[in-house]
Amino acid sequence: MDFKQNLEIYQQMINKELEKYLKKQKCPEEILNQSMEYSLMAGGKRIRPILVIATYEIFKKDIKKCMPYAVAIEMIHNFSLIHDDLPGIDNDDFRHGKPTNHRQFNEATAILAGDALLNNAYIILSEDLKNTSIQEINNKLSVFNEFSVAVDRMIAGEFVDTECEGKQISEKYLEYIHKNKTGALLKLCIRMGARLANCEEEDLEKLSKYADGIGLAFQIKDDILSEEGNEEILGKPVGNDKALGKCTYVSKYGLEGAKEILDKITKEAIKEIQDYGEKAYFLKELALYIKNRSK
Ligand code: IPE
Ligand code: IPE
Ligand code: MG
Ligand code: MG
Repeated sequence: MDFKQNLEIYQQMINKELEKYLKKQKCPEEILNQSMEYSLMAGGKRIRPILVIATYEIFKKDIKKCMPYAVAIEMIHNFSLIHDDLPGIDNDDFRHGKPTNHRQFNEATAILAGDALLNNAYIILSEDLKNTSIQEINNKLSVFNEFSVAVDRMIAGEFVDTECEGKQISEKYLEYIHKNKTGALLKLCIRMGARLANCEEEDLEKLSKYADGIGLAFQIKDDILSEEGNEEILGKPVGNDKALGKCTYVSKYGLEGAKEILDKITKEAIKEIQDYGEKAYFLKELALYIKNRSK
């Protein structure tokens, strides 16, 4: 099966699982449900949950075990997108080719739908913990802790990103922002997949280096797409980083410079997992997809 087909199968699997959880956790406030569902089911690429599952599959087959973690991280991601688009942050009107959550509903609803998605992720994880055997609970609790810390890093990264608007910052600080606002969740996904499969420490180290690379690469590509992407394919505005005076890899290194860094980081990330051979075929292809994507 080729990569594209595989990716679609994963995406469908995640969508089905998300729908299941949305139904199960419906609250009595209908509009709040609609607002959460509107963003969660709007057509995201599902890269984060796919990373959890694909990494888990290097070691084990019974992917049911990592599903709650895959669903929870996609909820966190969508919470971050709803809030990222708000007038007080990036003030964007479109995402996934549709009005952003606060445009479709209103600002209060969008803030609360984001909060609810954040909290729903923790409901899912705490339910999984409640049903975990005594033999496995320590590992799961440690994964849960890592999950919370990564969410904290994403929020901190978003804060610094907005604080730095219109300012000149160092190359090191720019890397710090990207690694937090975007890299932290992506790295978490890979590490969760590996840790839930009870991998060896040596594997975790190797995969963490791959994760550092693709985490940074993902946001560099996002910066590039914000400069030269096709708005219709992207489903979100192009040129908004520049308009807000964001410091990005494009504003810092130029378009060609950013592309060169992206290329280098992607190659290095793939090298980190070459020992796994065919087993890591999907993760290798995913790194290339992140680099070459147009949305
Ligand atoms: C966009 O993430 C926001 C960033 C962290 C760069 P994605 O490009 O993964 O968003 P969707 O869910 O696929 O739209
Ligand atoms: C998004 O960063 C990062 C998070 C939401 C955590 P951006 O603001 O650069 O992403 P887009 O371009 O709006 O998707
Ligand atoms: Mg932003
Ligand atoms: Mg944004």
